[in-house]
Amino acid sequence: MKIPPEKLDEISSANDIVEVISDYIPVKKRGKSFLALCPFHPDKNPSLHISQEKQVYHCFSCKAGGNVFSFVQNFEKIGFIDAATKLAERAGIRLTFSGNKLDTSNEISVLLEINKAAAVYFSKMLREVRGNEREFVHSYLKQRKIDEKAIEEFGIGYSLNRWDAMLNHFHESGDFSPEEIEKAGLIIKKENEKQGFYDRFRGRLMFPIHNESGKVVGFGGRKLLEEDQGGKYINSPETRIYSKSRILYGLNHAKEHIRYAESAILVEGYMDLITMFRHGIRNVVASSGTALTEEQVKLLSRYAGKVYVLFDADSAGISAAKRGTEIMLQGGLDLDVVTLPPGEDPDSFLGKRGAEDFHKQLKSGMSFVSFIADIYLKEGKLSSVEGKTEFIREVISYIAVIPDKIKRSLFLKEIADKYSLMESDLRDEMEKILRKRKQFPETSVVIPDVPAGKKRDSVEYEVSVNERELLRVFLRGDPEAVAYIENNLETAFIGNSRILKIVEHLLDDCVNHETIELSRILQGFNEDDECVGMIMDAVSDRHEASYFEYSTFDSLLENEIGPVYDIDHARDVIRSLKLEKVNKEIESLKGDPENLNKVFQLIKEASALRKGA
Ligand code: UTP
Ligand code: MN
Repeated sequence: MKIPPEKLDEISSANDIVEVISDYIPVKKRGKSFLALCPFHPDKNPSLHISQEKQVYHCFSCKAGGNVFSFVQNFEKIGFIDAATKLAERAGIRLTFSGNKLDTSNEISVLLEINKAAAVYFSKMLREVRGNEREFVHSYLKQRKIDEKAIEEFGIGYSLNRWDAMLNHFHESGDFSPEEIEKAGLIIKKENEKQGFYDRFRGRLMFPIHNESGKVVGFGGRKLLEEDQGGKYINSPETRIYSKSRILYGLNHAKEHIRYAESAILVEGYMDLITMFRHGIRNVVASSGTALTEEQVKLLSRYAGKVYVLFDADSAGISAAKRGTEIMLQGGLDLDVVTLPPGEDPDSFLGKRGAEDFHKQLKSGMSFVSFIADIYLKEGKLSSVEGKTEFIREVISYIAVIPDKIKRSLFLKEIADKYSLMESDLRDEMEKILRKRKQFPETSVVIPDVPAGKKRDSVEYEVSVNERELLRVFLRGDPEAVAYIENNLETAFIGNSRILKIVEHLLDDCVNHETIELSRILQGFNEDDECVGMIMDAVSDRHEASYFEYSTFDSLLENEIGPVYDIDHARDVIRSLKLEKVNKEIESLKGDPENLNKVFQLIKEASALRKGA
């Protein structure tokens, strides 16, 4: 079951947190705050503070905290949906879907509404297209074995083979302006003329792309006509609600199956996923043909710790698999690499061989170590000492990115046993790689902000003042400032992984909600006390006055000292973060005369930033 966000808001506003907690444990009023013995740790003096105004609770001892949903969840040890259902019942709210009034209150809602309307329109066209065009499209569906069920489940539609079908449709409905529809990526401005637009998708089979919470954020359109000059698939352009690198196709359909199976199968294509569903394999997501990104891995790891990566056995497939492997290992995922016979993708393989063989293929998946060994073996390299050395080095470089020390050790042991090598030699090699990485991080220019001479062995970066400020201004939720952050912040500016996690969460949250709501945000960090702590700190203005000077949680939250955080503040913070990044880049490059030009350019950039450009 899925509960729409509006419903969740309704449930939370109908369940006062003080009343709900009082249902479970005795609560005392203290000034503006409410206090209770914390039920989440052995508590002698009441350390659970409840803010009625903010509708959150926080234990100053064990750091438990959250909103009304998380309280019920943690107290009753039940899942989110169960907690929400319970609370809905408590307030007499019926959990059915509500009407479909347009929400055009802000730019993001408008984009979502347009995509929703377009999805409805495309599926209507698939049903209503007439004449030769109908026969053509429906015979394609038949040939690809896309049945009614799949059409229904994935909302598959059709864009008429005309330049103005979508344009006219929206014109008639009159709900949105052409400029808004263009922003959503569905129509394109004519180049040579002063005015006028044309449809982006023409004569294509349309696959709506949903975000994690099931809203349509974009489309992929499969070419059907020979004479179509466009690519095999055309996708929506990046918009404020659709970013290719942050979306996994099918996740909204698959996420519960992934949770249940405790693993996910990663494929490349829309059709692969749909065919797998048809064969009853539902714990699947598709990377949509792009190289897997860190954001996608993060998304995936929220649902499962293990991933089966399916790839073509051709060389492009292999190099994509290698790159994907590294990112997944880095993200802490366990993985098996499954290769299919050359030229086959899951869709074609299932078509020819069926589900049973497909399962066999999955079972034959190899650890990434064997996968890489296999490549070396096929190239005939494993028989020479040099080849074997090269192989071991490569494998170790993968192992070195795994965040979990114990897993790293287990892998080293596996290789030592398998290839009769000394574990300590392998460990030395890995340490060497780790040291080198720390000296010259390749993936980003963000270098730990550590005073010279002080060494730290973890790769965690200290929270910088700018990062803290960013969090504060973001959480204040001024719409203009939030929009500015959404459009101008690059996550590469952020070094601290927790701040990054929170900021990414906030960015995702913005896609689905109009306003930033503290209690809902906390909801996203149920298991991460550190993040909850950081968020609480950010909303409590701790550097203006000491944390300990506040007697109650409420006074701490309410105290709003300091500058008014608004759009200017957001601008300043982002500029400073950028400057910080550029400066670090300069530091890391300036030793080497080869970098002279680049450094010079960066210095110019830094000075412009300092002047406020
Ligand atoms: P493939 O070329 O493997 O296509 O691209 P496919 O999924 O097997 O498609 P069918 O079976 O021929 O219909 C894999 C994925 O890469 C993205 C799409 O998401 C596609 O599903 N892609 C591919 C594009 O975005 N644009 C393209 O032009 C091609
Ligand atoms: Mn295919």
